[in-house]
Amino acid sequence: MTEDLNQMRDHMLTAIAAASGLDALDACRVEALGKQGTITLLLKTLGKMTPEERLVQGPQIQGLREAVANGIAERKATLERAALDARLASETLDMTLPADATPAGTIHPVSQVMDELAEIFADLGFAVATGPEIETDWHNFTALNIPETHPARAMHDTFYLQQGIDAKAAGTADEKTTFSLLRTHTSPVQIRTMLSQKPPIRIIAPGRTYRSDSDATHTPMFHQVEGLVIDKGITLGHLKWTLETFVKAFFERDDIVLRLRPSYFPFTEPSVEIDVGYTLVKGKRVVGGAEPDGWLEILGSGMVHRKVIEACGLDPDEWQGFAFGCGIDRLAMLKYGMDDLRPFFDGDIRWLKHYGFSSLDVPTLSGGVGA
Ligand code: DAH
Repeated sequence: MTEDLNQMRDHMLTAIAAASGLDALDACRVEALGKQGTITLLLKTLGKMTPEERLVQGPQIQGLREAVANGIAERKATLERAALDARLASETLDMTLPADATPAGTIHPVSQVMDELAEIFADLGFAVATGPEIETDWHNFTALNIPETHPARAMHDTFYLQQGIDAKAAGTADEKTTFSLLRTHTSPVQIRTMLSQKPPIRIIAPGRTYRSDSDATHTPMFHQVEGLVIDKGITLGHLKWTLETFVKAFFERDDIVLRLRPSYFPFTEPSVEIDVGYTLVKGKRVVGGAEPDGWLEILGSGMVHRKVIEACGLDPDEWQGFAFGCGIDRLAMLKYGMDDLRPFFDGDIRWLKHYGFSSLDVPTLSGGVGA
């Protein structure tokens, strides 16, 4: 019997090794291990044996089954690797060939504005920082002085993630490490930056943000830019000068008037909202003009709250700073004259041809950050 099993094993392994493709290999598997397979039937005979017979035959038949199963798995891996190699070889692209058509795309206004922001703020000594779009409760809210019961949480129309909800239900959620929501603003990047860098800090953080909101001026995904300065002896004066310098550079005119309005954000104290003056040109609002016809709100800002500085492990008596947050899509609309936000994200090539920028038009302060 042992001799028979050995023969059977050699015979099967030879067939497996000779299988030229995945189909042939599967036929070998069915023949040996399928419902009516040789080995399957052998295994069934164990039940009818005497205990003594089973003690001898059991391990031998199981050994045969294992040898054949391993042989099949190995051959399968080899065949799959060969198939992948063949596919990769047949799909090579010669990247050195000249393009047969000029690319049709343009630089999206949002990308353009982000590049402009980076350029303007780099000149003021700001680095660009980033953070994850999938955030924890703690970074998005708690560390920004928005505790669980704070009404601002409800106002943010947050998209919560199932993994966070499940973790909460299972009692395994940790507000600092469980990624449980899509960030509702870029402000959590303030926290991540203060936790990972030593002051003095000067950063801007442009990126995607998410809220469950949708109409002509709101989309569920939108873009913000955050600004943060942490240093010694920083005052509201620094904030005002920085934002004035930025707005003048961005709209490329000197006759910009800003209005600071007292406001409230949990993570700043005091908080100010910044409006920019506009003048009416042929019935259209145009940012700028020494004597504004009206005001447009463009960003929220303030002096970073002591509690936020403390939450990041810094001493608020030693370090102070200011922060601001601003909608990038809105900046683009004001500068380049779109009046509906929704087409920004439709991917319509006609809209991109109209509003997009040439990929060669890199914004520079010397060459102009505009179109
Ligand atoms: N995070 C706020 C929002 O999305 C905007 C904001 C306001 C950011 C004031 C700031 C700030 O950094 O200081 O509505």
